[in-house]
Amino acid sequence: MIIFDDKIDLIAFVDGLKFKQKTLGFVPTMGALHEGHSSLITKGLEENNVVVVSIFVNPTQFDNTEDLVKYPRTLDSDVALLENVSEDKIVVYAPTVEDIYGDEVSSISFDFDGLEYEMEGKFRDGHFDGVGTIIKRLFEIIRPDRAYFGDKDFQQLMIVKKLVEKLGLPVTVVGCDIFRAADGLAMSSRNMRLKPEHRAAAPFIFQTLKTAKEKFGTKSAKHVREWVIEQFERHHLLELEYFIIADAKTLQTIKRKSNQKSYRAFIAVYASDIRLIDNIALN
Ligand code: PAF
Repeated sequence: MIIFDDKIDLIAFVDGLKFKQKTLGFVPTMGALHEGHSSLITKGLEENNVVVVSIFVNPTQFDNTEDLVKYPRTLDSDVALLENVSEDKIVVYAPTVEDIYGDEVSSISFDFDGLEYEMEGKFRDGHFDGVGTIIKRLFEIIRPDRAYFGDKDFQQLMIVKKLVEKLGLPVTVVGCDIFRAADGLAMSSRNMRLKPEHRAAAPFIFQTLKTAKEKFGTKSAKHVREWVIEQFERHHLLELEYFIIADAKTLQTIKRKSNQKSYRAFIAVYASDIRLIDNIALN
């Protein structure tokens, strides 16, 4: 498997692929790869000749230094997982911070038409400017035909689509279903940091989302929200940060239910100091 750590070499490699008219899929990651990532890569391999997987813990999207420092970095096992998926059609780009940012580790300030102020944007200062900055940079280097993002970070997916639309970038952004463990917990690199008792408790998040979806069929959004808050108030190990029912297009919190609109429920929960997010389509 080819592993690049220098963008100049990767750019030359991509030039070669483009010259041969090969199509290129791209799966951006921060490493600590799991089956959720494999499912994105497998989809990328079905639709493209080659898939580039970037492995880069992007400092500008963290507002919490401790979270950045503790974020798992597992390049050897990541490469082993990728070799299992495909030995010859996956290329890895695992750059240093300097290769991406030079000497100035800072974000561009973006206008994502308000998507950036909702949910994760409220709780993670500057997060989406950091995500926009790294994705723009990676798209410029890799120049993929298609890029694959999981629905688990639904707001991120919407923001990347907005970035592509606003900058007129020639890439198709493909959203992929959330990959869940057998007990329903959405796959996340952060799951590996959960203590056993928190890992055992965490499927409660998706169970609650499923029941919230059922309730939303007949009850008001306010009622569903209050019910969810109550469930977490009673829970000893999981602490609710937010539960929001929002318009799936604008991500604005629902005011009055309309049959014309699609809604999604979004949740963020702390299991000790590990922050987990999830979401579900409601209608
Ligand atoms: O979802 C992630 O892992 C990151 O936000 C991404 C898209 C790789 C950008 O750093």
